[in-house]
Amino acid sequence: MSRYDFQIPVTFKHRIVFTRDAFSPENQILAEILAEGGGRRAMVFLEETVAAHWPALVDEIQGYFTELDLDFRGTLIFTGGEAAKADDNLVRETWEALDSAHLDRHSYAIVIGGGAFLDAVGYAAATAHRGVRLIRFPTTTLSQDDSGVGVKCAINALGKKNWVGAFAVPFAVINDFRYLHSQDEETRRCGLIEAVKVALVRDRSFFKWIEENLTALADLEPEILEQCVEKSALLHARHIAEGGDPFEMGSSRPLDFGHWAAHKLEAMTSYQLFHAPAVGIGLALDTLYSARVGLLSFSRATEILQVLDGLGISIYHPALDWLDETGRRRLLAGLDEFREHLGGELTVMLLKDLGQGVDVHEFDEVLLGECINELRTRWESMS
Ligand SMILES: NC(=O)c1ccc[n+]([C@@H]2O[C@H](COP(=O)([O-])OP(=O)(O)OC[C@H]3O[C@@H](n4cnc5c(N)ncnc54)[C@H](O)[C@@H]3O)[C@@H](O)[C@H]2O)c1
Ligand SMILES: [Zn+2]
Repeated sequence: MSRYDFQIPVTFKHRIVFTRDAFSPENQILAEILAEGGGRRAMVFLEETVAAHWPALVDEIQGYFTELDLDFRGTLIFTGGEAAKADDNLVRETWEALDSAHLDRHSYAIVIGGGAFLDAVGYAAATAHRGVRLIRFPTTTLSQDDSGVGVKCAINALGKKNWVGAFAVPFAVINDFRYLHSQDEETRRCGLIEAVKVALVRDRSFFKWIEENLTALADLEPEILEQCVEKSALLHARHIAEGGDPFEMGSSRPLDFGHWAAHKLEAMTSYQLFHAPAVGIGLALDTLYSARVGLLSFSRATEILQVLDGLGISIYHPALDWLDETGRRRLLAGLDEFREHLGGELTVMLLKDLGQGVDVHEFDEVLLGECINELRTRWESMS
């Protein structure tokens, strides 16, 4: 028998930019990034809703590229939103477009849209030729403050959230604040849930900053909103780049605080409940559970729920109480699915204090049930 263990060191540059009006002729950041990579071709995949909000964008993009020494293959517009990752249609359409435009591994697929659109087009780019360079332009609060700077992409499959996907570091992420202000107010506010999440598990002072600026955030004051998005995105990126486990080989997933329940609620409601509100509920549930299990003080838990309330984020959905044929809450199967998705032992992050997470490996279903009852009662008294 012979056995050889090699080390394969690979490093990635994770380029993250915050800017405004990236396709205006004066803004050269995209040109610089493209030149840095030295690739030959590029094409743009634009989400329909964004195109509708910014009718001049397609011409702006075309104008921008005419100034560059690059073979630009045009802008294609596709429908986005959660439906775009519900099946593999958009993935296939993206593959076909990449193929007919002859984009190779040194070319750029530039994707402009919300988190769901980025996920589906990103997955297609990650798998075409085993990886065409991807430049992401996230256009929602959630995708700018979290998913856009991540190194994952996925679509839903087999009735489960993000079941097919890949780890793939994008060539660059350009958070253009221009797009941040055209979503409806509720969705814009709700997307801040990932900022609250990363503050809770990573940075107490950021949580305090959110608390201090709660009214301005709830009022969506542009400057404060943009600051919050940038702080959140950087915390996410720093965790990925410097946290020691960018491709989630281990079981600990701090950035998934509140997500086991969120992913299950999304799937249970056939994705009628979107990711951001689902995370709000999951985060409220795991916060209360952290308190009931004795890790977190009840006053801290209340403080956290008040921030959610201040942002208009709901803490309850009737699906929390849906039962299976044995009378068990259907939500609880989400714990098994979460474990399977991660691989290995069940590992869920709970809270000890603001900015301090702690991994646990088992859940008490009775206590969870009590937390759900409390969320329902609080929600009923609010609505
Ligand atoms: N890959 C990752 O690491 C990762 C991390 C977190 C979340 N996600 C995924 O991201 C998705 C959620 O992303 P999202 O919250 O951006 O939702 P989304 O992509 O569904 O967008 C929400 C809505 O906003 C619209 N929209 C997009 N940009 C707009 C703009 N500028 N103005 C007006 N409307 C606009 C979209 O058409 C959609 O209707 C989920 O599928 C989630 O699983 C992925
Ligand atoms: Zn999330």
